This record gives sequence, structure tokens and C-alpha cells, in this order.
Amino acid sequence: DAGVFTYDPGFTSTGSCESQITYIDGDEGVLLYRGYPIDQLAENSSFIEVSYLLLHGELPSAKELEEFDWTIRRHTMLHDQFDQFFRGYRRDAHPMAVMVGTVGALAAFYHDSTDINDPKARTIASHRMIAKMPTIAARAFKYSVGQPFISPRNELDYASIFLRMCFAVPAEDYVVSPTLARAMDRIFILHADHEQNASTSTVRLAGSSGANPFACIAAGIASLWGPAHGGANEAALNMLEEIGSVDRIPEYIKRAKDKDDPFRLMGFGHRVYKNYDPRAKVMRTTCHEVLDELGVKNDPLLQVAMELERIALEDPYFVEKKLYPNIDFYSGITLRAMGFPTEMFTVLFALARTVGWIAQWSEMIEDPTQKIGRPRQVFTGATERAYLPVSKR
Ligand code: SDX
Repeated sequence: DAGVFTYDPGFTSTGSCESQITYIDGDEGVLLYRGYPIDQLAENSSFIEVSYLLLHGELPSAKELEEFDWTIRRHTMLHDQFDQFFRGYRRDAHPMAVMVGTVGALAAFYHDSTDINDPKARTIASHRMIAKMPTIAARAFKYSVGQPFISPRNELDYASIFLRMCFAVPAEDYVVSPTLARAMDRIFILHADHEQNASTSTVRLAGSSGANPFACIAAGIASLWGPAHGGANEAALNMLEEIGSVDRIPEYIKRAKDKDDPFRLMGFGHRVYKNYDPRAKVMRTTCHEVLDELGVKNDPLLQVAMELERIALEDPYFVEKKLYPNIDFYSGITLRAMGFPTEMFTVLFALARTVGWIAQWSEMIEDPTQKIGRPRQVFTGATERAYLPVSKR
């Protein structure tokens, strides 16, 4: 077919490849991490345990989990010179710009773990990124609001360490709500991996050239930033705020159907799911739990979201095009209620997806048949022609 070429290493120009990590059945709305259904993991597991599963292929024993958890929590601090690096950014920089720049710069601070041919270095780099992403993300947030950086407290769990670094201030004690920590951990699980999406394919392609892992993850963050991908949670909340009230929904439904109008319902539709995104179901439940915990369950944006979902799921246009809410539809409302500004939403997505990117990158690097990715094309430009001097043009 036009545009579909087969070339080493088994990629096609659509970017497909072999993997054992995540399985999606878009028609049935199924998502499995190493064979385990996403709803069972979200309900029963933890982000650290799911991270071990994605990286190693099996759920850990109690001892393996304890050792992995301890290792990650022991690497949460950043090199002291990062402070100077951070303070070079403008305060009003988008936090995703900070993430792309800072994660790429990790190779300049941790160059002892950039040799991709050394399995030990690869493991250290992987653990460092999983451990330090929350610290970097929290610093991006604190820097943008002009508050001092808060150091990680390693006696807490992964999600609580992060929430405390975001919302604690030196002037007073801060206790992380167990309900919000559990919700944050579950949101990380939901976003951890998702097969060969745009940002994961970016990481794989960058990694296939032999680039160091920090550079590959920075490339993934850059790709995730787009509003059609990870930026959709920020775009979805901005859309709900623009709609503002339930009575204005029909106007936006009409715009979403108008081919001449570039407006899309943010948080709806998916390249693969032609059924309800299984993550969105868990995200919707988590959204209600968080808003109940915070006493804001009458949030007008939640009312708009629920009515928009109801209308869209009944509308023949969306039914025929198999457009359902995706994970980004409810995540923005939840994160805003937890106290995060919209610019931080995709940062949290990148924080969680880092372990998926690393698992996919490792799978590719450890494949002995792996070669550099080299997408081809269908050439539609000029056929060969002789040069014309400017006097004859
Ligand atoms: C993520 O790939 C991943 O797995 C990504 C992700 C992950 O975890 O990594 O799941 C995370 O990126 C989720 C998607 C977040 N993006 C958004 O919510 C942005 C809004 N969604 C749209 O931009 C869109 O749905 C895409 C980009 C996600 C998919 O677009 P496609 O490939 O065009 O979808 P499609 O082929 O199924 O579209 C079918 C039709 C098309 O119309 P026709 O050409 O048939 O006339 O539905 C239309 C589309 O134009 N359509 C929409 C729509 N999404 C698709 N119409 C209105 N609103 C929408 N949101």
C-alpha cells in the first residue's frame, strides 16, 4: 500500500514493532500490562509494583518489591548543581519546556550511566529516571509559583513523596492525605505505559540510534507535549472551562461535527480505542473520589464533563465514528481539584509514562537483532530535472 514499507528492524512506516509489554484491544477496550488488566492493577497494585512489572515482566515477590522500592526511593535526590540549572529558566516557562530541558541535561550530570552497552549502567540510568522524575516535576511546579524547593522524604511512599514536594512549604507542617496519595498513585498506574503511542515510538526511534537513555526520554517528553497526545489533558480542561456551563454544550457538539471547524472535543477519540478507554473508567471513578474527599463534588466543570459525556455517548455522529472519552477527559478535572495548575497536567503524564518509555527502550536495546530505525516514504515531489541558471528562470 502507499506509505507502508517494510524495512529493518521489522518496523513498517506506521512504526509497528514486536513487544511483550503492553497489549491493547482497541475494539474491545482492553488494556493489559504484561497480561494483567489495567483495572485490576489500578485497584490492587501500586505504581512502584507496576513499574517493577513493566520492567521485569513479572509481579515481584515481597522481597523483590521491598528491594526495588528502597532502590527507587534512595535515588530521589538531584545533584546539587541542578539548582543553578533550574534557576536559569524563566519563572513563566511552561513546565514541559523545563522537563524536556532538564531530563535531557541528566546526561550531563549522570554521565556515569549513559553507556547503553553496559547493562549495569542501563539499570542505574533507569532507576535514576524513575526516582528523579517526581523531584524534577515538583521543582518545575515550585519554581513556577515562586516557592522554595522541597526535598524528598524517603520514608514516604512514591506518590506521597511527590505530593509533599509539590504542596508542602517550609513555614508549616504538611501531612499528605492518604486518599489523595492513593489517587495520585492510581493515576500514575493508569498513565504508565500504552504500547507504541507517539511518544513511545519517539523514544524507540531515538534509542535505535544508540542515543543515551536520558536523551531518549527527553525526546519522548517532547513528543508527549502535543495537544493531540499527552497535552490533551491540559487541552480538555481548557475546553471544559471554555464551555463553562451545561447549556453551552450543544454549541460545542455542533462545532466538533463541523468538518470546516478545526475544533475537536479534547479528551475524546483515540487512534486505537474504538470503545471506551478502560483507563477512562478508572479515571472517572478516581475523579469522583478525589472531588468527594476535597468536598468539591459539585464542581461545575465535573457537571459539564458528565453532561458532555452523556450527550456524546448518545449522539449518532460520535457513535458512528466510535468516539469515546479517553483517559484525558477526567484526569484534568481531578488534577486541578488536587491543586495542580493546567500546565502541570502533562508533566504528571510524563512522570508516570517514564517507566513505560524505559521498559520499551530496554526491550528494544536488549534485542540482539535491533538495528537503527529508518522510516521510508512515498515520494511525491519533482522527478529529475536539469539545473537552470537564474538568467533563464
Ligand atoms: C492520548 O496513542 C496513544 O495510546 C495515546 C495515549 C497514550 O496513553 O499514550 O492514549 C494518550 O494521546 C489519548 C488521546 C488524547 N488526545 C485527545 O483527546 C485529543 C482529541 N482527540 C483527537 O485529536 C483524536 O481523537 C485523536 C488524535 C486522538 C485521534 O484522531 P484520529 O486518528 O483522526 O481518530 P479517528 O481516525 O478514530 O477519527 C475518526 C473520525 C475522524 O473523522 P472522519 O475523518 O472520519 O470524518 O472522528 C473524528 C476524526 O476527524 N474525530 C473527532 C475527534 N477525534 C476524532 N471529531 C471530534 N472530536 C474528536 N475528539
